[in-house]
Amino acid sequence: MRDITAPLLDWYDIHAREMPWRVMPSDRKAGVLPDPYGVWLSEVMLQQTTVAAVREYHKQFTRIWPTVGDLAGAEDADVMAAWAGLGYYARARNLLKCARSVVADHGGTFPKTYDILITLPGIGPYTAAAISAIAFDEASTVLDGNVERVMARLYDDHTPLPAAKPILMDYAQRHTSTSRPGDYAQAVMDLGATICTPKSPACGICPVNDRCDARTAGTQSDLPKKTPKKPKPTRHGIAYIARREDGAWLLETRPDKGLLGGMLGWPTTEWGDDPADADPISADWIESDADARHTFTHFHLILRVQTAWLPHDASPNRGHFIPADSFSPADLPTVMQKAYTLAAATLQRV
Ligand code: ADE
Repeated sequence: MRDITAPLLDWYDIHAREMPWRVMPSDRKAGVLPDPYGVWLSEVMLQQTTVAAVREYHKQFTRIWPTVGDLAGAEDADVMAAWAGLGYYARARNLLKCARSVVADHGGTFPKTYDILITLPGIGPYTAAAISAIAFDEASTVLDGNVERVMARLYDDHTPLPAAKPILMDYAQRHTSTSRPGDYAQAVMDLGATICTPKSPACGICPVNDRCDARTAGTQSDLPKKTPKKPKPTRHGIAYIARREDGAWLLETRPDKGLLGGMLGWPTTEWGDDPADADPISADWIESDADARHTFTHFHLILRVQTAWLPHDASPNRGHFIPADSFSPADLPTVMQKAYTLAAATLQRV
């Protein structure tokens, strides 16, 4: 079997990316391991976005809730607000459930092994492997999109994803380091993120370029193959953005189940082909001249935005008023922030 583990670790010793939750290789060699809470938080956040975007969210979370016990004791709405903008809000609800389970069922410390980690809410195979390897140096194999790409190229495997996953997992397992599993896991992911990138991989500076079958075959830019996705449908809706005379905003906490579950947002219609009006209060609604557009995992959404000023005794049939000085658009999910941007001009304070 070709040895990619040693050259990858040598490369990582020099090129490991600095991250707020990461213990760099020289410190790990001296026996320092990262805080499992920080690693868990980073891995859940990184499932939907880039390291660059996660940095600030991670710093903010660990500033407000320095330990898993602090997070377990947080108010749901505060955690949802701090997560706003990261997307995939079910993950934030699971994050809280997981923190509470760590406190209630595991004495406030993260379990070390894959088999126990995987039983926690919101922790799937990837996250369980990442936490056990990175935070505890257990010899677990991580397989994320980066590792899939690296393995498909090393072995010039043209099986399309997702069918290729077990094959690529098998390759990844063969190379998992038993002496430095945490560094190895992070090394492959860093390689995938910085050198073995989806487009224009930098093969010239890759530490394992002399043992890469795709490079030999010249197929690296075509890999991994993917089964074509179905095109996303477009759904439509109306967002109702209203302000009371005293400046308070009419917002609604969305039901826990479903998209944007548990998040604060503007009251909207159902999202569908041609949803019926569902204004939260009868008022002189004004249609804004632009729509808010947002793409979710499975569909595009076009939200028409309607705005209204409401009298001081307004009594809407759903939602609640949030005073102007407690309202921050940053606490809303991105699609709701987009709608707010379109409405803000007509709802300036008078
Ligand atoms: N992407 C997701 N998790 C990562 C990690 N721990 N290191 C590098 N890239 C990552």
